[in-house]
Amino acid sequence: MKKIAVITSGGDAPGMNACIRAIVNTAWQHDLEVIGFRHGFRGIVEDLNVPLHPDDMRLVSQRGGTFLKSSRFPEFREVDVAKKAAQVLDQHDISALVVIGGDGSFRGAHHLNQYWGGQVIGVPGTIDNDLAGTDVTIGFATAVDTAMDAIDKVRETAEAMARVFIIEVMGRHAGFIGLHAAIAAAAEAMILPELEPQPKLAELADGILQARAAFPDSSYVVILSENLWPGGVHELSKNLSKATGVTCHPCPLGHIQRGGRPNAQDRILAMQLGAAAVDAILSGKTAMMIGLEQEHVVHVPLHLTFERDKPLDARLVQLQLGLQGVNITSKTS
Ligand code: F6P
Repeated sequence: MKKIAVITSGGDAPGMNACIRAIVNTAWQHDLEVIGFRHGFRGIVEDLNVPLHPDDMRLVSQRGGTFLKSSRFPEFREVDVAKKAAQVLDQHDISALVVIGGDGSFRGAHHLNQYWGGQVIGVPGTIDNDLAGTDVTIGFATAVDTAMDAIDKVRETAEAMARVFIIEVMGRHAGFIGLHAAIAAAAEAMILPELEPQPKLAELADGILQARAAFPDSSYVVILSENLWPGGVHELSKNLSKATGVTCHPCPLGHIQRGGRPNAQDRILAMQLGAAAVDAILSGKTAMMIGLEQEHVVHVPLHLTFERDKPLDARLVQLQLGLQGVNITSKTS
């Protein structure tokens, strides 16, 4: 019986467990044995192996996080460490490895592929949705739902007390969560890395003051992508408070965006991509990511997923930017 391995790597994402389930069950249907390594690439190097059987997969899809556990492991960039991983995989007679993760993990997978003779397949699992070659990544839809729920809650207290909130969302260096959450939660303004030109402090302050003048009794919510504003959400809130004379409350959403039960969309996506990963192994593919484009499974060379930038949907950006100003304009015109 041939043997394949699976790891979850980098920031965990809701839906990773459903993906492992699809890989294990599909593999066993084709007489492939599966083992997992706990904690991602580090677990391969340290040989933290665990057998994976369909009997144990029955109730994992519902859970957030990853039962296989994950880790950040920058040491994997070193050639000797990648060679050590290759050695461990060979000792276990593994013929293919599935890496569920984001761009850092795919860099690791691509690196390993140069020092190991087995097949390496990537499945996009990251809340950031920042991998080129796939419309969506496992975990993104749930993270947007979670951010939207949290923003809705902040909105209720903000509205009750007519307050301004600056809410920071995750995304590393991409604005997907920011854009989708801003639209879903009807934010008054958004600051995303992809916006050209970037909104200036004076413009943001002006937006707040105009809204205050038109709706003195209402809330105002700005969505800010992380790693963008110097000093982050606290500094921006402080500067905006000073510029407007209105207290602007900082609210970083943080890691709650990564947790929680995966929504239906992420579970289904994870099952689809996990099963397709095993199909790709059976058809001899290597160094490929299994993605989804326009509802179809696609195979994309791993390096093309992290060497290119993935743009935001320009129509969604325009939709949000266009609607942000409408209330104020209609009230003041
Ligand atoms: O990549 C997922 C992500 O949650 C990013 O949005 C965020 O910037 C980063 O991971 C945080 O990583 P860590 O949990 O290692 O601090």
